[in-house]
Amino acid sequence: MTETVWWRGAVFYEIYLRSFADGNGDGVGDLVGARRRLPYLAQLGVDAVWLTPFYRSPMADGGYDVENHCDVDPVFGSLEDFDALLAEAHRLSIRVTVDIVPNHVSDQHRWFMTAVAAGPGSPERDRFIFRDDAGDGSPPNNWGSDFGGPAWTRLTRPDGQLEQWYLHLFGPEQPDLNWEHPDVRAEFEAILRFWLDRGVDGFRIDVAHGLVKAAGMPDNAVLPPTRSGTSYRPVGHQWDQPGVHSIYRDWRLLLDSYPGDRMAIGEAWVETHEALARYVRPDELHQAFNFHLLQAPWEAAALRGAIVDSLAAASAVGAAATWVLSNHDVVRHVTRYGGGTAGQRRARAAALLMLALPGAAYLYQGEELGLPEVDVPDEARRDPMLQRSSGAHRGRDGARVPLPWEARAPGLGFCPPEVAPWLPWPEDWHELAVDRQHGQTDSVLSLYAEALRHRRSQVRSQPQHVEWLDAPPEALLFRRGTMACGVNLGDAPLSAPAEGRLLVRSSPGPATVLERDAAAWWLVPAQA
Ligand code: GLC
Repeated sequence: MTETVWWRGAVFYEIYLRSFADGNGDGVGDLVGARRRLPYLAQLGVDAVWLTPFYRSPMADGGYDVENHCDVDPVFGSLEDFDALLAEAHRLSIRVTVDIVPNHVSDQHRWFMTAVAAGPGSPERDRFIFRDDAGDGSPPNNWGSDFGGPAWTRLTRPDGQLEQWYLHLFGPEQPDLNWEHPDVRAEFEAILRFWLDRGVDGFRIDVAHGLVKAAGMPDNAVLPPTRSGTSYRPVGHQWDQPGVHSIYRDWRLLLDSYPGDRMAIGEAWVETHEALARYVRPDELHQAFNFHLLQAPWEAAALRGAIVDSLAAASAVGAAATWVLSNHDVVRHVTRYGGGTAGQRRARAAALLMLALPGAAYLYQGEELGLPEVDVPDEARRDPMLQRSSGAHRGRDGARVPLPWEARAPGLGFCPPEVAPWLPWPEDWHELAVDRQHGQTDSVLSLYAEALRHRRSQVRSQPQHVEWLDAPPEALLFRRGTMACGVNLGDAPLSAPAEGRLLVRSSPGPATVLERDAAAWWLVPAQA
């Protein structure tokens, strides 16, 4: 089977808007800035962009605390700016998907403000998850907030009296919605329609695994840390409940009622491949982020296992697989793979691995420049996670430092020289700038552009089936039809398949043998 609809094999590019390009000169990226840089993405060769939230928000969690889902925050621009970006992207044949945040709203959202004012027992409170205090001053259950501390905050009346608790799986500024309530369902269907009517091609569904909580909200038996090192594994009764799937069945019907192959991808951090596959059954979401490649260490067996199991789980439900190495929530993969020269080499090889696989690939802005995680000083950090976790987790700002566009410009071409970017750059960031890498044959940017070009012409139309070929234990070698991909993670040399003709290599070297931490694509003769 080859691809039929655009999103099955598309390369998506995540624009973390506040760090992409600043159009109005305030040090924060915005819609105008992003629109101006779209030709860069067209040249790079991506098929679609995913825009992180740009809705009205007090920005307690970088915009993932939405106050009004149908309006643009002034920091990011206006609805007209959005329309202009969408039109320009479509002109350049780039599809546009936007982030939808349905698990929670901002505590400044009109619904939450009225719920607080209306008091305990009011119908307004039913749109959220409020509980009385049991009398001992402890939270209604032992669930933890994803950002650290309890998942419950107790309201205080103006006269100082304590009253009900409300649930927030993330920050206290992000109260969870009650998805049993018909108003919540109706509101989000209206929000989806609002953006579909404007012409968006799809949605990224934030925290797609969190909307429905276990009946009775029982205590969690074990309380493992959700984040350890580079991995993130939400475990407990608040995640991945069976009831969540009916929401996506409704949304699928809604999306299918629009022309033009609109799609949705869920951000579902779930434990197993099978659990993930449930989100992409034929009548549910089109895609779900598969984080198994991202969570695998740089080891052949782990990477191969992630690939084999992901492909099997996706194909069992007829879905297209998805792949991602980095996003705005995790440590950038150059750094995860060891940092420095080794991390860079491995990240280049990983890009060729990911882009050779059947399914859709999601790039995170800056990975095409080889950006590493930045050690942002604590006083400059903005992510609420640092404070909420009492410093146990330094937060996600290290992956969110603004892009360096122009090596010689004082604002690195991201913002004007007289303003400071919202997060500071490291000293040597100019060396990684887009204009430095552009046209340099050995740059990461050139590697990505070349890989994306070959992917369009030679890879995408290949069979979806991955056939593993003999290779040393510390290497991966597979073919899809007439293309083959090899990645060497060990010291034993990895030879190209017989009669393989080199398409692209992750680092300079011979065409038919790969050394450690190198990857390549070859064209191979069709099988007899
Ligand atoms: C998702 C987002 C993350 C945000 C969280 C709460 O995981 O990717 O950035 O903090 O949801 O909305």
